[in-house]
Amino acid sequence: MPPRRIIIDTDPGQDDAVAILLALASPELEVLGITAVAGNVPLALTARNARIVCELAGRADIPVFAGCDRPLERRLVTAEHVHGKTGLDGIALPEPAMELQPAHAVDFIVETLRREPAGTVTLVPIGPLTNIAAAFRTAPDIIPRVAEVVLMGGAYFEVGNITPAAEFNIYVDPEAADAVFRAGVPLVVMPLDVTHRALTSAAWLDALRGLGTRVGAAVASWCDFFERFDKAKYGGEGAPLHDPCTVAYLLRPQLFSGRHVNVVIETQGAFTTGMTVADWWRVSGRPANAHFIGSVDRVGYFSLLTERLARL
Ligand code: BDR
Ligand code: CA
Repeated sequence: MPPRRIIIDTDPGQDDAVAILLALASPELEVLGITAVAGNVPLALTARNARIVCELAGRADIPVFAGCDRPLERRLVTAEHVHGKTGLDGIALPEPAMELQPAHAVDFIVETLRREPAGTVTLVPIGPLTNIAAAFRTAPDIIPRVAEVVLMGGAYFEVGNITPAAEFNIYVDPEAADAVFRAGVPLVVMPLDVTHRALTSAAWLDALRGLGTRVGAAVASWCDFFERFDKAKYGGEGAPLHDPCTVAYLLRPQLFSGRHVNVVIETQGAFTTGMTVADWWRVSGRPANAHFIGSVDRVGYFSLLTERLARL
């Protein structure tokens, strides 16, 4: 089987960084490009961090593009309180030597989808959906050419993390999320319902350190860093490793299960802006537009991560 071709749209973010590493370590996937978006930290930092991660993986050949520096219609909300000032706090890594590509991320997404055969490029958004919505808005002809969108965002049973009602990626740009969920593309959603079960553990961090590699040390130190915030917030053994769930789904879909349901995005709520209203119990009569994941095999997920990260 030829590798599945993907574009990772991201706001690194330590968990984004692990998702990128997992993809770069996996021969089943060909990363056509990485598109940075403003989210966890401002765009200049997410575009920098994406290149740091490529260089850490020894993949300075991966083209990295900077995209939108703010949501479609709102001011940017960031999450330094979780990810630190740089977005990638935890270990000191060298400034990237590789250059950003001159093209805008949105143009790269549009041109790639127009150039490649229809149905062969999968989008993997793991930050706010601004770049993806902007691409769909600029070039609606690309929408039917997308193989699948596999995104991290939203919640139903877990409801919210940045507000009581909303998950961060959707909350930052709800108008963009609304556009993507209405677009009619095949959509797989990794919500907090799943990622709050994908908790790191001391044993896993030890195993990473035991690899004796730069990648193992970096991932362990990133997890140590954001665990401090998440453990204080949620209690429990470890911290949710959100974004790599998307890449793990592409590699091992059998680790996950969910339901094909209708999901709409609240853009007008007094208290609920950014809420993903998922019709899990199928009571609305609205047509299904997303495969909404509900559970993960945690042991399988973390052993996949260890096995793949060990290759870098
Ligand atoms: C999402 O928000 C970000 O902080 C993480 O990188 C992840 O994409 C979780 O709500
Ligand atoms: Ca992210």
